[in-house]
Amino acid sequence: MSGNERPTGQQQTSTAAAGSVFLKACRGEPVPHTPVWFMRQAGRSLPEYLKVREGIPMLESCMRPELVTEITLQPVRRHKVDAAIYFSDIVVPLKAIGLDLDIKPGVGPVVAEPIRTRADLQRLRALEPDDVAYVTEAVGMLTGELGSVPLIGFAGAPFTLASYLVEGGPSRNHEHTKAMMYGEPRLWADLLDRLADITAAFLRVQIEAGASAVQLFDSWVGALAPADYRRSVMPASAKVFDAVAGYGVPRIHFGVGTGELLGLMGEAGADVVGVDWRVPLDEAARRVGGGRALQGNLDPAVLFAPRSAVESAARDVLDTARDLPGHVFNLGHGVLPSTDPDALTRLVDFVHTQTQA
Ligand code: CP3
Repeated sequence: MSGNERPTGQQQTSTAAAGSVFLKACRGEPVPHTPVWFMRQAGRSLPEYLKVREGIPMLESCMRPELVTEITLQPVRRHKVDAAIYFSDIVVPLKAIGLDLDIKPGVGPVVAEPIRTRADLQRLRALEPDDVAYVTEAVGMLTGELGSVPLIGFAGAPFTLASYLVEGGPSRNHEHTKAMMYGEPRLWADLLDRLADITAAFLRVQIEAGASAVQLFDSWVGALAPADYRRSVMPASAKVFDAVAGYGVPRIHFGVGTGELLGLMGEAGADVVGVDWRVPLDEAARRVGGGRALQGNLDPAVLFAPRSAVESAARDVLDTARDLPGHVFNLGHGVLPSTDPDALTRLVDFVHTQTQA
């Protein structure tokens, strides 16, 4: 915890969730079993999700509190996971400030006019809580329904958001993004700073409405070398973590392909660092340092193998996590769309029974 004052906003974090196994593990406190949830657990593989989403575009569904509540609860009911993740998307706050963007099924976020120049920055105005009143409403409904199950709020990290905005859509090499980062460092720094403010505002809304933890998704940051991350990205991510430090809710920091960045990602201000499947958790703990809890890290593709192979891989994850200060079991990235939901339910049960004290 930093020395920040606790903000005076109306934070409603459900007291019912305060003693949950998930929050204890995030804080490195003793737990009766290892908690588990899955990135992208809401949506994707669940038939009940596809049914309620029928005919409703993704971004529109994010603006309907009742639908958001139902979709967020679905994996909790079905899999008995230890935490819910708020159903939304990383581009929702950008849409909310008026950017012309959409989420194309099977593709991802697509931005009509990419952000490439200083004049383009004017389009990134500050996010006000009223811009996302539906989030406040949905989080309020959810914390009522969830009872003792904590709700994780989330946002996209400045680098990953910048990549979508500068490229105009999903990108393998992030070439326009890196061209700006290396070629126009002041413009880049200003872009990331604005995104940090928007992201922080979006997380604050979720925490004040009752989210018990937050996760910053920097999914594509593994594309960077450590020195570039430290110089050109870390200040913006650190600003986001600082802005919400005073609430005292665990802050999780996740990216993919971040083996070489784990130490810096912890340094940016996270309480919990998410690890993909490429680095064993004991080694990840050495790299992250600071006695921080870790989250991860079963390869999501393992779930396509027979049950015995899934269980043996999950056992390996649990074994490498044995001496961690805290461990939240998760996949090393999101649930893949064609994953068998029953394999996820069985995995939750397996982790719980294997780790029961
Ligand atoms: O975890 C959850 O289940 C909560 C919901 C959630 C969504 N997006 C819903 C969604 C979360 C946490 C996200 C985060 C997100 N969105 C990230 C970070 C996590 C990660 O996987 O790295 C990123 C990079 C995005 C951007 C984005 N939005 C992508 C890459 C896609 C997938 C495109 C596709 O169809 O393959 C989306 C769309 C999206 N976000 C869908 C859902 C349920 C699919 C919507 C649809 O197809 O209608």
